[in-house]
Amino acid sequence: MAKSGILVIVSALVVLAVCGVFAEEKEYVLTLDHSNLTETVAKHNFIVVEFYAPWCGHCKSLAPEYEKAASELSSHDPPIVLAKYDANDEANRELSKEYEIQGFPTIKILRDGGKKVQNYNGPRDAAGIVSYLKKQVGPASAEIKSKEDATNLIDEKSIFIVGIFPDPSGEEFENYITLAEKLRGEVDFAHTVDAKHLPRGGPVNKPTLRLLKPFDELFVDFEVFDVDAMEKFISESSIPVVTIFDNDPNNHPYVNKFFEGTNAKALLFVNFSADFDAFKSKYNDVAVIYKGDGVSFLLGDVEAGQGAFEYFGLKQEQAPVIIIMDTDEQKYIKDHVEPDAIAAYLKDYKEGKLKPHVKSEPSPEVNDEPVKVVVRDTLQDMVYKSGKNVLLEFYAPWCGHCKSLAPILDEVAVSFESDPDVLIAKLDATANDLPKGDFDVQGFPTMYFRSASGNLSQYNGERTKEAIIEFIEKNRDKPAQSDSAKVDSAKDEL
Ligand SMILES: *[C@@H]1O[C@H](CO)[C@@H](O)[C@H](O)[C@H]1NC(C)=O
Ligand SMILES: *[C@@H]1O[C@H](CO)[C@@H](O)[C@H](O)[C@H]1NC(C)=O
Ligand SMILES: *[C@@H]1O[C@H](CO)[C@@H](O)[C@H](O)[C@H]1NC(C)=O
Repeated sequence: MAKSGILVIVSALVVLAVCGVFAEEKEYVLTLDHSNLTETVAKHNFIVVEFYAPWCGHCKSLAPEYEKAASELSSHDPPIVLAKYDANDEANRELSKEYEIQGFPTIKILRDGGKKVQNYNGPRDAAGIVSYLKKQVGPASAEIKSKEDATNLIDEKSIFIVGIFPDPSGEEFENYITLAEKLRGEVDFAHTVDAKHLPRGGPVNKPTLRLLKPFDELFVDFEVFDVDAMEKFISESSIPVVTIFDNDPNNHPYVNKFFEGTNAKALLFVNFSADFDAFKSKYNDVAVIYKGDGVSFLLGDVEAGQGAFEYFGLKQEQAPVIIIMDTDEQKYIKDHVEPDAIAAYLKDYKEGKLKPHVKSEPSPEVNDEPVKVVVRDTLQDMVYKSGKNVLLEFYAPWCGHCKSLAPILDEVAVSFESDPDVLIAKLDATANDLPKGDFDVQGFPTMYFRSASGNLSQYNGERTKEAIIEFIEKNRDKPAQSDSAKVDSAKDEL
């Protein structure tokens, strides 16, 4: 949950291509369906297929750009074919499952008659699509024969991999090409016989993989030509010592990688216009110490991090604030942190001396509505130790289905008002961290029923007064009921 929450924040920042105006008689994008997708793909050495849904907004904005790119690429030598497939159409759905479509649009590059499937990770504007696909259709690794080649090929703002082979043949070279074919959709590859063509790094006299990057030490060499080892090296070296999170889109791919990683994560949010310099180098020093020790570091701007602040229940005035998200989902938070205090804080974290941060709303002073308010701090007393049969709704303030459920729950609560053994309650799951274990809240609203003897079950029935009351009556514990409660509930049934 922590990870996906942040990803929402991050992806909200990523601006997608806008609709261009485009009208032309001939359609260059091939329209495919279940009757001809497989045979069309089989006929091509290289074909690009967009899986879309007619209702999807991003698909609609992509369409004119995609068509424009298809028209330009039709005159490429050899022609590059772009196709589209309505994966939402009932009849087409079965076949699209083979391509593991997770969202729309998803673009796949299919090679060798469909034997090799690669995700398209390129831009979504016509010019970007054209240049990305031109690179994809050529060899996986281009040869750099001069300084000029290097300047043309190497994008200084991205990671770029060059294999330096005094003799471009043999097992090492073959492994390198295998690797390039495997990862070409994510990062660019080239090779050369002479390191002197390259913008950074000295000469070498044996096969060397040189990774050029726009941050930290700017290049790093590797000499083990095993495919898996190289892949691991590239993935580790592609993450900056400190990932920068601000409004610069060039930084967003690294932010995504940061959150995808399995390390514990340290996030320091400061006001970049006021405090960046005071923190950057000190934080970097700490990050270097823990590099390779299971912690990744991010330095975020308070302005860009608004979503994160909400997510952690923090206020911007608390910056500079450092948050550690542990691999076991515990969080540690220190606000108004000084640059010099960061190293000690990380040390305490590593030594297990920090107290986890738990988000809880204050308990309400008045709690006399029919549906009682539960917060993290009152969960024990009101739910676990109350000895009552409790129906507990987990909700989010912004959730529409929760709003429609509210009057129904009110009625349920009113009907049990005179029953001392039943409690109807709600908890704002965006403002309170849940204890680990019992409740699995994946969406809103989620309802749990805990019987007086502690039997816990999720309520997945209809969201009507009658169905909920019936469920409670069926699952509540009856033995502990007093005579007066029996009389009361008998009265309610009249
Ligand atoms: C695939 O089949 C559909 C429906 O029969 C047709 O509209 C479309 O033009 C065909 N595409 C190709 C490339 O043959
Ligand atoms: C960040 O600092 C600048 C300069 O001191 C100030 O103008 C701005 O309001 C601050 N931003 C926030 C979000 O605190
Ligand atoms: C707890 O609930 C389950 C499922 O509703 C039921 O099968 C079981 O008998 C209950 N246990 C007790 C002690 O009530």
